[in-house]
Amino acid sequence: MAARAPEPQVLLCLGALLARWVAAGLEAVVIGEVHENMTLPCGNISETRGLVTWYRNDSEPIFLLSSNSSRPPAKPRFSLVNASSLHIEALSLQDEGNYTCGEALNETRWFQVWLQVASGPYQVEVNISTTGVLPNGTLYTTRGSQVDFSCASSSRPPPMIEWWFQAPDSKTEPFGNNLTASCFTLLLMSQNLQGNYTCLAKNLLSGRRRSVTTELLVYAPPLSDLECWAEMLPRLFLLQLTCRWDGGYPDPNFLWTEEPGGVVVGTSKLGVEMLNRSQLSDGKKFKCVGSHIAGPESGASCVVQIRSPSLLSEPMKTCFVGGNVTLTCLVSGAYPSAKILWLRNLTQPEVVVQPSSHYVISQKGQSSTLTIQNCSQDLDEGYYVCRAENPVGVREVATWLSKKFSLEHRGIVGTIVSLLLLGLAIVSGLLLYYSPVFCWKLGNTIRGQDMGDVMVLVDEEEEAEEEENAAEEEEEEEKKRRRKPMRGRPHRACIAILVVVNFERKGGGGERYRNINDERESLIGCLLHAPYWDRARNPGMCSEGN
Ligand SMILES: *[C@@H]1O[C@H](CO)[C@@H](O)[C@H](O)[C@H]1NC(C)=O
Ligand SMILES: *[C@@H]1O[C@H](CO)[C@@H](O)[C@H](O)[C@H]1NC(C)=O
Ligand SMILES: *[C@@H]1O[C@H](CO)[C@@H](O)[C@H](O)[C@H]1NC(C)=O
Ligand SMILES: *[C@@H]1O[C@H](CO)[C@@H](O)[C@H](O)[C@H]1NC(C)=O
Ligand SMILES: *[C@@H]1O[C@H](CO)[C@@H](O)[C@H](O)[C@H]1NC(C)=O
Ligand SMILES: *[C@@H]1O[C@H](CO)[C@@H](O)[C@H](O)[C@H]1NC(C)=O
Ligand SMILES: *[C@@H]1O[C@H](CO)[C@@H](O)[C@H](O)[C@H]1NC(C)=O
Ligand SMILES: *[C@@H]1O[C@H](CO)[C@@H](O)[C@H](O)[C@H]1NC(C)=O
Ligand SMILES: *[C@@H]1O[C@H](CO)[C@@H](O)[C@H](O)[C@H]1NC(C)=O
Ligand SMILES: *[C@@H]1O[C@H](CO)[C@@H](O)[C@H](O)[C@H]1NC(C)=O
Ligand SMILES: *[C@@H]1O[C@H](CO)[C@@H](O)[C@H](O)[C@H]1NC(C)=O
Ligand SMILES: *[C@@H]1O[C@H](CO)[C@@H](O)[C@H](O)[C@H]1NC(C)=O
Repeated sequence: MAARAPEPQVLLCLGALLARWVAAGLEAVVIGEVHENMTLPCGNISETRGLVTWYRNDSEPIFLLSSNSSRPPAKPRFSLVNASSLHIEALSLQDEGNYTCGEALNETRWFQVWLQVASGPYQVEVNISTTGVLPNGTLYTTRGSQVDFSCASSSRPPPMIEWWFQAPDSKTEPFGNNLTASCFTLLLMSQNLQGNYTCLAKNLLSGRRRSVTTELLVYAPPLSDLECWAEMLPRLFLLQLTCRWDGGYPDPNFLWTEEPGGVVVGTSKLGVEMLNRSQLSDGKKFKCVGSHIAGPESGASCVVQIRSPSLLSEPMKTCFVGGNVTLTCLVSGAYPSAKILWLRNLTQPEVVVQPSSHYVISQKGQSSTLTIQNCSQDLDEGYYVCRAENPVGVREVATWLSKKFSLEHRGIVGTIVSLLLLGLAIVSGLLLYYSPVFCWKLGNTIRGQDMGDVMVLVDEEEEAEEEENAAEEEEEEEKKRRRKPMRGRPHRACIAILVVVNFERKGGGGERYRNINDERESLIGCLLHAPYWDRARNPGMCSEGN
């Protein structure tokens, strides 16, 4: 067939008259399309000199029209152009056939024209069996599934159907080799089969073509498990909730809600939500639900529970002058992980301890240690505050660091002195039991001396009592008070404190005092810290700190 492979130029003039005739002797072939107008030339004579008469050759020639104006045309659809060519309006399929024109000169010359009428292709119907249709009409299927493609169109003569495929960012290529089948099946769809599928129906006679392009997406459910976590954004102290569900295409959707209650925190494709402190409280739970178009119907979910930090730290530590001491702060329960800071509260409130050769700070997980190297006699004593902070809450715990005299003062001498003082204390206690005035006198006597540690303790004790009895201000009043009611329990408290003072002065003399010292330190620590913790956010911390 001459029109089997239409030239591109011809394809460009789709819809125009496709009048192409191939000279074969005096014979021509003209191709027209239904509903179009068609002009059949009478031979290749440009200049007509004789009378032209047109016939239609069926079983016998039928007169159509003549250039003799006295003979009317057989049908009004027929007319003569340039006094020789036959013009047919609105072609129909019945017009297909052989036509003959005769030019009458001295002798009649005959020309034959074969008119072929093509129609279509009309509507191209594509059917792709897929998993589903997106709201915007795009088809999608899932990886590994089977997809059936079919394409149908009607034309005369019957159309040639071709499938073409275009992957993203690549050029269109015929599907398979010379694939003119209207149906085919793809097994095991994969990502590289995602793209635009085009069914092309071609009328080989007219060269007219019509195509339908369908975008087919190949979706894949996530391969991994849904993961979610909370983290603290440095500096801003915002809480960032993150949800991940990797390996799927396209990206899943994430919904973060508060649990229980289901108040929506946010929905996104990223799975990241930012929360400020006002939205947070200790123990609150957040749930992330991931949903994927190709994933399980119910999606996947996970829950995070945020917790403010809890702290464990020694309430009291001692450091030998010239020695090293390590303060430890253990953070537990914090989610997300807390930021741990050491603060110094000696002269200025809340000064952050910066790492240096003197202060070595190291953190392992949620445990931080502050090592003070080469303790100095005056500078290092005081409160050290460990602060743990996450977006949910802040906790602080203070450690009292007291200095001790150098190591030479320890040992046997220290022990002997300790025992002597212990004895003295017991005697004092017994005396006090019978003469409370002595207790006060002894206290004053000791205070008169330059004994820093004792002073600290007695002062604290006084403070505590002063708080209980706010009315007493003058020392005279205090004297009276101490003289009168101090019987029984208060006396013993006085003794206990003296004993403690004794150990405090000379403590750490040997291994066997270690446990006693620890207990004593804890006790004093609690006493000392009580006012602090009244002011602090977590009054229970002192007992926790033990
Ligand atoms: C065919 O010719 C008639 C009259 O000459 C005209 O009205 C009509 O628009 C033409 N149709 C086409 C499709 O060209
Ligand atoms: C007409 O066609 C004939 C036969 O193909 C050819 O010999 C002749 O030269 C043509 N005349 C013109 C004017 O093209
Ligand atoms: C068509 O009719 C003409 C005139 O009668 C005749 O010469 C010619 O052979 C016919 N052609 C066909 C194919 O029948
Ligand atoms: C034209 O047709 C008429 C009527 O059929 C006829 O009488 C006349 O001779 C014809 N003219 C020519 C030039 O053939
Ligand atoms: C009619 O003749 C004119 C001038 O010779 C030409 O330009 C035109 O194409 C012809 N029309 C047809 C339909 O052959
Ligand atoms: C027209 O004539 C050719 C031969 O010249 C023939 O092959 C063809 O079948 C004819 N067409 C019709 C519709 O009769
Ligand atoms: C037609 O006939 C006339 C006279 O009969 C003659 O002069 C003329 O040359 C002829 N034409 C052709 C084309 O044969
Ligand atoms: C339809 O939506 C999908 C997913 O959002 C997108 O990939 C595709 O390009 C869209 N198609 C059209 C025709 O907008
Ligand atoms: C079909 O393939 C053959 C060779 O593989 C080629 O010659 C021919 O042109 C192709 N046909 C089409 C319609 O692409
Ligand atoms: C399909 O074709 C449309 C229009 O050309 C284009 O926007 C889209 O990206 C193509 N889709 C793919 C998967 O190549
Ligand atoms: C204190 O620590 C430093 C560094 O680890 C070390 O060089 C020094 O000897 C230690 N001092 C004492 C008294 O242990
Ligand atoms: C820290 O200093 C402030 C202000 O001087 C004081 O109120 C607070 O009690 C101190 N805290 C500790 C643990 O010493």
